[in-house]
Amino acid sequence: MELTMDIFKQFDKKWALLTAGTENDFNTMTISWGGLGTIWNKPVATVYVRGSRLTHEYMDNNDYFTVSFYPEENKNELKVLGSVSGRDMDKMNASGLTPVKTAGTVTFEEAEVTLVCRKLFRQRLLKENMPSDVADSMYADNDLHDMYIGEVVEIL
Ligand SMILES: Cc1cc2nc3c(=O)[nH]c(=O)nc-3n(C[C@H](O)[C@H](O)[C@H](O)COP(=O)(O)O)c2cc1C
Repeated sequence: MELTMDIFKQFDKKWALLTAGTENDFNTMTISWGGLGTIWNKPVATVYVRGSRLTHEYMDNNDYFTVSFYPEENKNELKVLGSVSGRDMDKMNASGLTPVKTAGTVTFEEAEVTLVCRKLFRQRLLKENMPSDVADSMYADNDLHDMYIGEVVEIL
């Protein structure tokens, strides 16, 4: 597996879609926080999902997820998928993107790169373990992030 990208810009500026579920029942949302690296001698992707997201349920209920990156021309679709919940929109059919099946889950035909990930780990980011200014500014509503680490099993 080989991947070349400016990882800081890739999440922060280009954004990504995080997708979990099966081809018959999945959800997707835009993310701009995340990382790529190594743990337990495995190549991994790490993502952060607030408890309120519908995608959170799909992350908990499925063993695989994808992190996919898109060209600039798809930015509008990513804006919509990052502002409307799958609870209020049929994201499976109305995302404006074309779902395609991968090993264990789903990505979209328009993606430049997809990381297919097998879920390894989940951990809540507790306020007492973060700087107080971050806790106050990011989590005043207590909608905490869970960190999910997935083994990157395939790069498409
Ligand atoms: C640029 C951008 C980046 C985002 N990054 C994250 C993120 O890293 N984690 C997160 O929980 N929500 C993030 N969001 C918010 C979710 O994408 C948004 O709440 C989405 O509507 C959730 O959809 P769902 O309820 O269908 O899962 C981001 C939104 C945008 C526009």
